[in-house]
Amino acid sequence: MAIPQHIAIILDGNGRWAKSKGMPRNYGHVRGAKNLEVICEDAYNMGIKYLTVYLFSTENWKRSKDEVDALMRLFRSYTKTCIRTARDNNMKVRVLGDPSALAPDLQESLKKLVESSKDNTGLNFQIAINYGSRDEIVRAVRKVAEDCLDGKRSPEAITEDVFSDYLDTAGVPDPDLLIRTSGEQRLSNYLMWQLAYTEFYFTEVPWPAFTKEDLQKAIDKYNSRERRYGGVKEE
Ligand code: IPE
Ligand code: IPE
Ligand code: MG
Repeated sequence: MAIPQHIAIILDGNGRWAKSKGMPRNYGHVRGAKNLEVICEDAYNMGIKYLTVYLFSTENWKRSKDEVDALMRLFRSYTKTCIRTARDNNMKVRVLGDPSALAPDLQESLKKLVESSKDNTGLNFQIAINYGSRDEIVRAVRKVAEDCLDGKRSPEAITEDVFSDYLDTAGVPDPDLLIRTSGEQRLSNYLMWQLAYTEFYFTEVPWPAFTKEDLQKAIDKYNSRERRYGGVKEE
C-alpha cells in the first residue's frame, strides 16, 4: 500500500461537534487542537512526510469577536506546546498565510516555532493561519512584480516552478491527498494552486472525533484511486 507523501487537511466541524454535545463552539476548538497533536503523531508514525493543516482562514475574521478571540488564545497556547512537540518529535514547522494581521506576541511565538524547528528532519508540518489561497497568490504576484521591476527577473523567465517558489509553500511538494472533515465539500480558499492534481477525500466525521482509523480509511481510499495526471493508464 502506498502512503501519500503529503496530506493536507481542512479540519472542519469543531463548532458542530461541540453543539451536538451541548457545549459552546469554543470547546470544540479546544478539543480540535488537542486532536491535532494526536493525529500529527499518528500521521508521522504511519510514514507521512508532510502534513498541512488549515487552522484559520482569511475569511474566519468574520466570526464573532468572542470566537476569534478564543481562537487566538488557543493558537497562542498551541504554538507554545508545538515548540516542545517539534523538539521532542523532530518536526519541522512552517507557517503558511499572512502573519501581519496577528497579534505581535503570536507572531513572535510563530517565528520562534519556525526558527527553532528549521533543522529538524522528521515530519514536515505546515500550519495555515490567516491563510487564504487568493491572498497567497496575490502576495506572490506582488513579489514577482517587484523582482521584475528591480531587474532580478524577466517576465519571460517566470515558469510554474519559478512562481511556486514565491508561494508560502515554497520547497514543499504538492499534496497527494486532501481530507476535509465534517461533510462540507468545498475548498474554502485552501491551497488552490497546490491542489491542482490532488485526490480529494470527504468524510462526515467532525474534526474533534477524527481518529487514526479515519485517517487510515482516507489512505485506503486514496490507494484505490487511479492517478492519471491527464494521461491514459498503460494496459
Ligand atoms: C473548524 O471548525 C475550525 C475553524 C474553522 C477555525 P468550525 O469552527 O468551522 O466548525 P463548524 O464548521 O462551524 O462546525
Ligand atoms: C475552513 O473552514 C477554514 C478552516 C478549517 C480553518 P470554514 O468552516 O471556515 O469554512 P466555510 O466557511 O464553511 O467554507
Ligand atoms: Mg466550518
